Amino acid sequence: MARIGQRSGAAATAMLGLGVYRPERVVTNAEICEVLDSSDEWIRTRSGIRTRRYAGEGETLVAMATRAARGALEASGVGVDEIGTVIVATSTHTQHSPAAAPLVAHELGSRAASFDMSAGCAGFCHALSVGSDLVRSGNASHVLVIGVEMLSRFLDPTDRGTAFIFGDGAGAVVVGQSDEPGIGPVAWGSDGSQSHVIRQEPGCEHVDADHPMAVRMEGTAVFRWAPFAMADVAREAVAEAGLTMSDLDAFIPHQANMRITETLVRNLKLPDGIAIARDIQDSGNTSAASVPLAIEAMLRHGEAKPGDTALLIAFGAGLSYASQVVTLPATAGVSASVAG
Ligand SMILES: CC(C)(COP(=O)(O)OP(=O)(O)OC[C@H]1O[C@@H](n2cnc3c(N)ncnc32)[C@H](O)[C@@H]1OP(=O)(O)O)[C@@H](O)C(=O)NCCC(=O)NCCS
Repeated sequence: MARIGQRSGAAATAMLGLGVYRPERVVTNAEICEVLDSSDEWIRTRSGIRTRRYAGEGETLVAMATRAARGALEASGVGVDEIGTVIVATSTHTQHSPAAAPLVAHELGSRAASFDMSAGCAGFCHALSVGSDLVRSGNASHVLVIGVEMLSRFLDPTDRGTAFIFGDGAGAVVVGQSDEPGIGPVAWGSDGSQSHVIRQEPGCEHVDADHPMAVRMEGTAVFRWAPFAMADVAREAVAEAGLTMSDLDAFIPHQANMRITETLVRNLKLPDGIAIARDIQDSGNTSAASVPLAIEAMLRHGEAKPGDTALLIAFGAGLSYASQVVTLPATAGVSASVAG
């Protein structure tokens, strides 16, 4: 029998650079409440959200992903010709075919292997793990990992369980070889028995006529599940990295809801002084984009710095979840409206 050759790749990988794109338009709770039967006070206390951003004309999903990717390339100093794979994590690209990733690669001037990943709000942490493994296997020297969402097109503005939660945006990192490991082993899994808890379904008269699906969510079920089950997953990621909670500089969970973050922080018994991501205040829940956007916000505000050790965890539709310890990358701060 012929023996098939296999590649071998980098001994260690890391995120080499980060870029983000935040849409121009800031949407306040007051604007949401022009249609939704709710109040600014209720939204702030139940979710922590003050504002979110919605994509406008020209800020397509592919355009936002491309802007974030350019930022990541700039921050990493990696040329587009060095990218071997482009992975786009999203649940709001409006077509199954073509996927968003080849379109983003084309915009960047790349012919790299390109594909989308659908793991709901956990998409970025899934894609980061796969990207790291592609470099470690030798199948790519550098991978662009992008999380991008345009949830505003999938919202029923009258739905009290979802209309105020979600927002739009994009974040991207370049993954490549590094001297020291900067992306720890992933702790991940799924529970399809709860697939109905967060879902897109047709038949909503209020959403964009071109994309007649609306996100529906059983918020209480998510709230019962995430802060407890995800604490175990986060502990597993830290243990798999050979670390303890006291080794962490920052905790950067998916920006689902401020109360979920606060409960997770309590359940994990994180040490005093650890920086906690709270980008949900100004971004809402941007699903697959939320973790890279939250990293960027922490770096920009000086709450964390490149080189810090951070615990990432993301969870959502599926239900799916993924967590890993990482070394934070540098950022170019490329967003047009990054300081917003
Ligand atoms: C969505 C969420 C904020 C709703 O909060 P909740 O406390 O569970 O709300 P409930 O549905 O139990 O309703 C509690 C009360 O608030 C009211 N309410 C519900 N939604 C409301 C809204 N948008 N505005 C104002 N009042 C609202 C209800 O009518 C109810 O009133 P009552 O006590 O007089 O009957 C909450 O379940 C949540 O945050 N879940 C997690 C969702 C999440 O993070 N998803 C991301 C997944 S990736």
